[in-house]
Order: sequence, then C-alpha cells, then structure tokens
Amino acid sequence: MLKWDKAADCWCGSGKKYKDCHASFDDKLRKYERKPYPVPPRSIIKNEAQIEGIRASSKINIAVLDYVAEHICAGMTTAQIDEMVYQKTTELGGIPAPLGYEGFPKSVCVSINNAVCHGIPDDVTYLEDGDIVNVDVSTIYNGYFSDSSRMFCIGNVSDEARRLVKVVEESLQVGLREVKPWKRLGDMGAAIHAFIRKNGYSVVREVGGHGIGLEFHEEPFVSYVSKRGTEMLMVPGMVFTIEPMVNMGKRHVFVDEDNDWTIYTSDGSLSAQWEITVLVTEDGYEVLTY
Ligand code: MF3
Ligand code: CO
Repeated sequence: MLKWDKAADCWCGSGKKYKDCHASFDDKLRKYERKPYPVPPRSIIKNEAQIEGIRASSKINIAVLDYVAEHICAGMTTAQIDEMVYQKTTELGGIPAPLGYEGFPKSVCVSINNAVCHGIPDDVTYLEDGDIVNVDVSTIYNGYFSDSSRMFCIGNVSDEARRLVKVVEESLQVGLREVKPWKRLGDMGAAIHAFIRKNGYSVVREVGGHGIGLEFHEEPFVSYVSKRGTEMLMVPGMVFTIEPMVNMGKRHVFVDEDNDWTIYTSDGSLSAQWEITVLVTEDGYEVLTY
C-alpha cells in the first residue's frame, strides 16, 4: 500500500482531499493487510460518482428483466428473448454487455433446465410448458456495467423444480446477511453453500460471481463454496455479484463442445441460478440489481 500525501487529491477520483476521503479507510485497510488478509486493490473501490453511474446502469438492467418477465411464455424461441433484451436495452440508452463479449454472439444468456449458464439464444429452441429458464441480463450504460438474472417457470412446472428455484432465490438473502464491511467474502459464500446443502442440492464450483462496475468482470472471483474467514475483505465501495448456480443432482458440469460456452449439468439434473449486483456500504449493503 502506497503512502498518500494527506493534502493531495484522493486516489479514488472523488476530487476531495485525501485526508477528507480515504485516509482513515487506508489506515484500517493496512491493519487488515498486515494480518494478512487479502484486501481489494484500489482499482475496484468505487467513488460516489461511479456508484451513481452503476446505479443508473442497474435501473436499465432491472427494467429489461421486468420487460422479459411480462412477456416470456411457452412457445417463444430463445432468439425472441434475445430480441426483447436487445430492443429494450437500446431503447433505454444501454448496450447489452454480452453482445460480442469474448466472442459471445447474442445479447443475453438463456439457460433452460439442465443448462447451468451461458445458454446462447437461437431460433430453434422453444420454451416449453414445464421448463425452468434462467435469463441473465447485463447492461453497459454510460460506460458502467450491471448484471442480474432471474428464473422463470414456464406454465406447469413440477413441485420439485419450483422448490429448487425458490431455494436458490432464498439463498441470496442468506448470503446478503453476511455482506458487511470489514468482513470476509468467504463468510457470504459459506452461508450460501450451507443453506443449499441443507436443502439437498449442490453448488457449482467452476463458475461464480465477480466484481463489476467499471468492467464487466472485475476482481474478485466470488465463490459460493468458500469457507468462513477466507477470501477477500469486503470494504465500502466494493461492488460484486451474488449468483450461485445450484444443481438438483451432483455439482459436476461440462462445457458444450459445439459452442464452447454453454455449461450443462453432467448428470442431466436441473440447475437454477439467480443473480444480483451488490454494493458494500459503510454499514452493510445496497442491492443494485435484482
Ligand atoms: N452475466 C453472465 C455473468 O456473469 C455473463 C456471462 S458472459 C457472456 O457473468 F458473454 F456470456 F455474457
Ligand atoms: Co454475473
């Protein structure tokens, strides 16, 4: 950690003097760093203006998902969902973050039943009665990124599939209870993992959440199978996603060899995921997207 001239402008870009901004934050961080705990790099600590930008991006992300929620139904192709997401996002002044991201060809991920994540919309896949569907929307607005996903139950969904969807949604609240400044990210992941296991399901390890805001994917990687007292220290101004992927059967997954994107459960069991973007505040958290 560098020493910073107390009278100079703060490193966070707020325009305030360092002594009136992140000076005491740095003192505190340095104590934890000496323990030693992994502490966040300055590049992922957001100032108030950046948080405002991420909030504005998040509003669009939520509006797009609300729009999908109103229209999604059996008989629709996944390409039609992609079309809705592209239209609504751009109408609101945003850009779909997935489009062209590392070669991803569409504006949204749509993952059905045994697909865990990164399903690519196409015009031959129809939503069918009884499907559980994850729609994962990410938005760039004014250079700021936001990300969230929801599950949709199409028509007559079995009780056991509905229970999976409900438990995963509840797990976000279990995780949120652990989001506090100067606590460890591993506490959040451990709480979610314990809750999911208690309910008889398994958590995917290979994919997880991430920091977000100035980039689509920032440090840290966020695991939902972590241990208490491990992983990065959570501090005010950090923004990350909570997005556990949960399988009804075993945790193992594989990547679709044809497109190198879509991840499926190895045992063919159902998988569900909900995703929110969270800001760590001075005394807890603020949910930015849901
Ligand atoms: N929303 C997904 C994620 O968290 C996006 C995956 S990258 C994409 O992180 F290109 F597939 F969109
Ligand atoms: Co994400």
